[in-house]
Amino acid sequence: MILEVKEVFKSFPVKKNFFGKVEKVIRALNGVSLSISEKETIGVIGESGCGKSTLGKVILDLEKPDRGKVFYRGKDISNLRKKEYRIYRKNVQAVFQNPQNSLNPRMRIWEIVTEGLKINYKLPQKELKEKAKELLSTVGLPSSYLDRYPHQLSGGQKQRVAIARAIALEPELVVADEPTSALDVSVQAQIVNLLMDVQESLGISYLFISHSLPVVEAISDRVIVMYRGYIVEEGTSKEIFSDTRHPYTKILISSVPIPDPERKRKVIKLKDFDSEEVSKGCPFYSRCPERKKECLFYNMKPFKISKTHRVSCTLHS
Ligand SMILES: Nc1ncnc2c1ncn2[C@@H]1O[C@H](COP(=O)(O)OP(=O)(O)O)[C@@H](O)[C@H]1O
Ligand SMILES: [Mg+2]
Repeated sequence: MILEVKEVFKSFPVKKNFFGKVEKVIRALNGVSLSISEKETIGVIGESGCGKSTLGKVILDLEKPDRGKVFYRGKDISNLRKKEYRIYRKNVQAVFQNPQNSLNPRMRIWEIVTEGLKINYKLPQKELKEKAKELLSTVGLPSSYLDRYPHQLSGGQKQRVAIARAIALEPELVVADEPTSALDVSVQAQIVNLLMDVQESLGISYLFISHSLPVVEAISDRVIVMYRGYIVEEGTSKEIFSDTRHPYTKILISSVPIPDPERKRKVIKLKDFDSEEVSKGCPFYSRCPERKKECLFYNMKPFKISKTHRVSCTLHS
C-alpha cells in the first residue's frame, strides 16, 4: 500500500458577513476513504464541484483535512519527520489540468523538469541538463526544447513537460487531475497514451481524475464515483461500467454518447445540483429517480456488493 486516505472531511468557508463571520461552508469532502496500491490506476469520476480536486490536493498535502488522515506508507503525513516528508514529496507527484498555470514562465524547460532533481540530489548543471534531455526524450520532445520557455510550446507539449517534471524523481504515485481537459481533442489521446507508457516503464500508480468516462474505463483498475464529497460507488472498472449499482453512476454513464447506433442508451437528464442545498440522509435524494423515504435517514455507510465493489445506496441494503 502506498497511500491511504482515512475518513477525510474538508470544508471551505464561504460568504463572510459584514463582521467577517463565516455564514456558510461548502463540504467538499465528507468522510472519504480510499487506498492506493503499487502500480494501480484509480479513476475518479463525478460532476464538477463534487470534490475530486480537493481529494487530490489532500493527497498531495496542498490542503489539510479538517478531520481524518492521509497515510503515506503507513505514516500520517501531517506528522512526518523532515526526511520522511521529503521522501513522501518525492514519491507523490502531480500533473494538473492546466499546464499554462503550472509551469513557471520564467524558467527554461530543462530547469523546470530538473527542479526536483536539483533540490533533492544537488546535481551539477551539466548532469541536470543531461538528465533533462533524457526526460524530454521519455515524454516525446526533442532536445532542442531544452532551452525554450513554456510560452514557446503548445498546450500538449507543455503537458508533456509537466509529465516529465512529475516523473523526474521516479515517483510511486502521480495525481493526475484532469490532465487532458485543457488540451485540444486531437492531442488528448496522445497524452493519455504517454501517461500509460510512463506507467509501464516506471511502475507508477495514478489517481486519475477525469471527465472522460471512456478514458477512465479504459485505463483504470479501480474507479471511484464521487457525489457531493462522498464516494457513492467504488469498484473495478468492470464493476463500475458493467455492473453499475448507484443511480447516480447510472446517470453519469448514461450521459456518455456512444458512437455505435446499435447500442443506444437511454439518456437520463440530470439538472445541476445546488452545492449549498442541505439535506439529511443521502445527498443524492433530491435528484434520485429511485428514491425512497428511508433514504432520508441513510447514513451513507457503504454496502458490499463484492470484495472490490461498494455502493452507498439503500437499494442495496
Ligand atoms: N479553496 C476553496 N475555497 C472555497 N471553496 C472551494 C475551494 N476549493 C474547492 N471549493 C469548493 O469545494 C467544492 C469541491 O471542489 P473541487 O474539489 O474543486 O471539485 P471538482 O474538482 O470535483 O470539480 C466546490 O463546491 C468548490 O467550489
Ligand atoms: Mg477539479
